Amino acid sequence: MLVGIILSLIVVGVGINIWIKNISKSTKLSDKEKLELDRKNFVKKPTNTEKEIPKTKRTPTKIEKETDNLNSRPNISVEVSIIEMAIFLNYINHKPVLIHYDKDKIIYDAFTRKYGIKVNVVQNKAAALIKKLEMEGKDTPADVFMTVGIGDLYTAKKKGLLQPFTSEVVKKNIPAQFMDKEDYYTGLTYRARVLIYDPAKTDVKELSTYKDLANPKWKGKILTRSGTHSYNQHLIAFMIAKYGKEEALKWTEGLVANFARDPKGNDRAQAKAILAGEGDIGIMNSYYMGKMAASDDPIQQEIAKKFKLFFPDQGKGGVHANLSGAGITKYAKKKAHAQKLIEYLTSPEAQKVFTEKNYEFPANPKTKLPELLKSWGKIEVSSIDFDKIGENMDAAADIAAKANFK
Ligand SMILES: [Fe+2]
Repeated sequence: MLVGIILSLIVVGVGINIWIKNISKSTKLSDKEKLELDRKNFVKKPTNTEKEIPKTKRTPTKIEKETDNLNSRPNISVEVSIIEMAIFLNYINHKPVLIHYDKDKIIYDAFTRKYGIKVNVVQNKAAALIKKLEMEGKDTPADVFMTVGIGDLYTAKKKGLLQPFTSEVVKKNIPAQFMDKEDYYTGLTYRARVLIYDPAKTDVKELSTYKDLANPKWKGKILTRSGTHSYNQHLIAFMIAKYGKEEALKWTEGLVANFARDPKGNDRAQAKAILAGEGDIGIMNSYYMGKMAASDDPIQQEIAKKFKLFFPDQGKGGVHANLSGAGITKYAKKKAHAQKLIEYLTSPEAQKVFTEKNYEFPANPKTKLPELLKSWGKIEVSSIDFDKIGENMDAAADIAAKANFK
């Protein structure tokens, strides 16, 4: 498949050069002339066979209507676009990836219609993509690297696999809090690590901070997935960034001492364990509440109806959020297109697609939120620099092992 993508990139190489030439020429043209030139570039002359076949009129999808309204350029179809770029993508490396990936594809298709730039996606686990970028070096076909965890964005940056970029569009769309301070990547969405509880069993007044989860009052009540999982290691890295290594180790030991059972299952399994009476407080990512409400599984629906989320550290520095984001690869061949895509991904219409089905928080605050996210009210998100979390990922893994957080 990779060979296919590389070959297709070589094949379109000529087309890209033509496009770049035309762009530089078009800077001297009037708007009307530019539009005409765009049309010529994008609209393929029909062959004789094509002329004979009448095209069936298709009703545009909702997203097409929305993006077309925003599109001042001629409507461009995916088939006739002449430009391609490649994106290395790790967007949720577990099962819901397909659901999310489909949503991502809607975004890329809308981008292609809008700008005539086709997006070739190579998807794998973040570590595999980072290794691939390292091995390919200057020959990488990737222009954009996109991933769900700040740890991986940080690793890609530190290994010199990304290049800084400055975009006024991105700076306008995304608050500084969710952008790399050195402009190597921008956040796209964030997922809060929260607590789930049954209000019939736990008084919300008892809940306060992550730190409090190590309080012996919770002995035998805390449920969580494995300490080797990236979600929990990001949380420990956050605790290191906030309190230092020594305190974070003590906290992790206290947390482990309060477990209702040995860590097992995914985030949703912790909520199910509360329903089964195995414990009281589950550590979970916020978007799973939305996924459970939308699930066909009656148990998950029941949980979504009965249980509540608690966002720790409100008024005390803010909830820990993990960031999904994108950056331009160091050896991107099509930097301008890569930047265009990243700019588009930060726009409210693309951000709306991210948040609608996956219930993640959009990094662009102008994005329309799903009702569920609105119902959570204003959430204070930790302003700790995301690089600080990335920096502490190795130390977090050490602490998890030392504290026997299996
Ligand atoms: Fe997840």
